[in-house]
Amino acid sequence: MLSLVCVCAQKVVSDHASLLRTLDSIPRELYPTLFTAAFLGRKTLVLQDLVQRWPFTILSFQELLRGDNGQLHHNPSRMSTQTVILGVMAYLSDALSRENGAERGRRLRLLDMTGAHDAVPEQGPDSMSLWSRTVTLAKACIKLSKRCRHKATQAAKRRRGHEDSALAPPASLDSVYVEVRVDLFVNSTSYSVLQEAVQVSARGPLRLRCRDLRAEELSLRNTVELLELLDPAGLRQIDLRFNNLGLGGLNALLPTMVKFSSLRSLKLPYSNIDVRRLTSDTEDAMRKFATLIGQLRSLKELNLGSSRLSGHLRQLLGGIQEPLESLELAFCFLLPADLYYLSQSPHAATLKKVDLSGNNLSELLLPPFQQLLAAVSSSLLHLDVMECKLNDSALSALVPALCRCSRLQHLGLCCNPLSSQGLRTLLQNCAWLRELRLVVYPCPVDCYSDVADWVASRGSPPHSFVGQEKLALFSAELQVMLARAERTDIVWTMDMRVHRNLDYLSL
Ligand SMILES: *[C@@H]1O[C@H](CO)[C@@H](O)[C@H](O)[C@H]1NC(C)=O
Ligand SMILES: *[C@@H]1O[C@H](CO)[C@@H](O)[C@H](O)[C@H]1NC(C)=O
Ligand SMILES: *[C@@H]1O[C@H](CO)[C@@H](O)[C@H](O)[C@H]1NC(C)=O
Repeated sequence: MLSLVCVCAQKVVSDHASLLRTLDSIPRELYPTLFTAAFLGRKTLVLQDLVQRWPFTILSFQELLRGDNGQLHHNPSRMSTQTVILGVMAYLSDALSRENGAERGRRLRLLDMTGAHDAVPEQGPDSMSLWSRTVTLAKACIKLSKRCRHKATQAAKRRRGHEDSALAPPASLDSVYVEVRVDLFVNSTSYSVLQEAVQVSARGPLRLRCRDLRAEELSLRNTVELLELLDPAGLRQIDLRFNNLGLGGLNALLPTMVKFSSLRSLKLPYSNIDVRRLTSDTEDAMRKFATLIGQLRSLKELNLGSSRLSGHLRQLLGGIQEPLESLELAFCFLLPADLYYLSQSPHAATLKKVDLSGNNLSELLLPPFQQLLAAVSSSLLHLDVMECKLNDSALSALVPALCRCSRLQHLGLCCNPLSSQGLRTLLQNCAWLRELRLVVYPCPVDCYSDVADWVASRGSPPHSFVGQEKLALFSAELQVMLARAERTDIVWTMDMRVHRNLDYLSL
């Protein structure tokens, strides 16, 4: 329910003309509430005025747009997000054009846009993707920096015109800036604009401070260049995908990451690492990788998804000194030796998140996986084993170890050939896990109208094979079972998106 203040704020921001007349007499305590109302109501004119006159040093999306549940209200709308950026640009242009004493009336120092894309990557038609927000900010940086340089040249010319050396020097334009704390997402299309922006932003009026960087399909050269330009302060995640770098390319890249002393999460999925065929070159490359990755002292999360690591996990991770808290090894062609290594490694006691999706855990890997589960049982919060070919027998072999993971919150099981009976048994056993909040389960094999068709198609079953009625009855039955076990606080769902969006950094 909306508070009285929020209702009033909605009313106030809906009339731009009268707000404008009173803006100077509005107490600063009201700005946050008005901002929220204008942002969510897409009152762009009001929003821009509020940002331009922002009376505090920090403007933070996380603080201003957070709902009662601690999550951001909605996917921030494109219109409102762009308006905030325009507002900050107007504020800076204004400060730059003041004759002197740029300090007067200037308060805003930090625009914190992080958090806006954490919870809801699914984009609505009116929301702004991380990619396009990155481009918009980059263009703003470049534009403002040009304006600032133009200003500096003018000032220099004016000074040369005057012989009087007693004339005060122009207000130092260097001191006119706002830092923008953001997550950035770049691919080859937007690389050059972001590269230029990061370069000029170091000393420009709009200074980019990247928290989480995601880059897709960038060449080695461009990635190195970008990492070298980025300010190391506060960068906590680097996510590089589809870059085809291989182990050699990653080894060339890793030294540029050492300067990021807050780097906690490194994601390198689809990097085309293949160490299955051993030559002396691959041995050398693995040793080098282990040494380099060991130099990232704050690293807590590593993702090597979709690489072919068969049997070499020990060599690749052996150099890491500080134990990891999250390890994502989906579709990595793991062998028993890899899981045995992990369960005996120093990481086992600290792992909060483990993703082994897409590895065939059904036969040879089942015993080492049981051992791994036992080893991580005191720390594990989040387990993903989607598409692991687990059937009812495999699952019942795992249940004892699973039930000892007393802190487990999230369990991802989709795309495994489990039956409704297997899932019922799991639900009953899991009801004991006090912390459990979410289980993503597969469509039970006996809910397919034609199991033979599905088996023949092997992968995820086409929707048309699912007996919708059977499935609906089964989901309803699960709800009854949860109610009977007094565990309606656990969400059992088949919607994979819910689970995929749970990030280690927000655990
Ligand atoms: C980069 O990402 C944008 C937004 O998702 C997309 O429109 C564009 O096609 C991508 N570029 C490449 C080369 O894939
Ligand atoms: C899973 O791996 C086992 C060996 O561990 C193999 O026999 C089996 O065929 C594999 N299952 C599938 C469905 O690929
Ligand atoms: C599960 O798979 C294993 C081998 O992959 C097989 O031996 C066992 O019979 C299967 N169990 C069920 C219930 O289908």
